[in-house]
Amino acid sequence: MIHIRFIAADQSAQDIQAHPGQSLMKAAVDAGVNGIEADCGGALSCATCHVMVEAPWANRLPPPVTDERDMLDFAASPLELGSRLSCQIVLTPELDGLQVRLPASQY
Ligand code: FES
Repeated sequence: MIHIRFIAADQSAQDIQAHPGQSLMKAAVDAGVNGIEADCGGALSCATCHVMVEAPWANRLPPPVTDERDMLDFAASPLELGSRLSCQIVLTPELDGLQVRLPASQY
């Protein structure tokens, strides 16, 4: 299992476990993480799955493809270092311990 910590804008933390091969978004939705809306279900057309990946995890991820970068422009909250769309992050065993922050709002 892969352990992931989500940190909300109010600094509260929620820890979940996920399976390799899942997207970070799907793992969050399945675990009932507040703050991941994922309106499009992972079709890369909503930007309501925005997260900020903490260093050093951000460097362990493949860089965002052009479509992800373009869709991030539609995120409701300001982009930060490490901003990604969680539906585009595929969980691997190397990401065990991943820590991401959630924006104040997805709308
Ligand atoms: S769930 Fe819609 S872009 Fe990620």
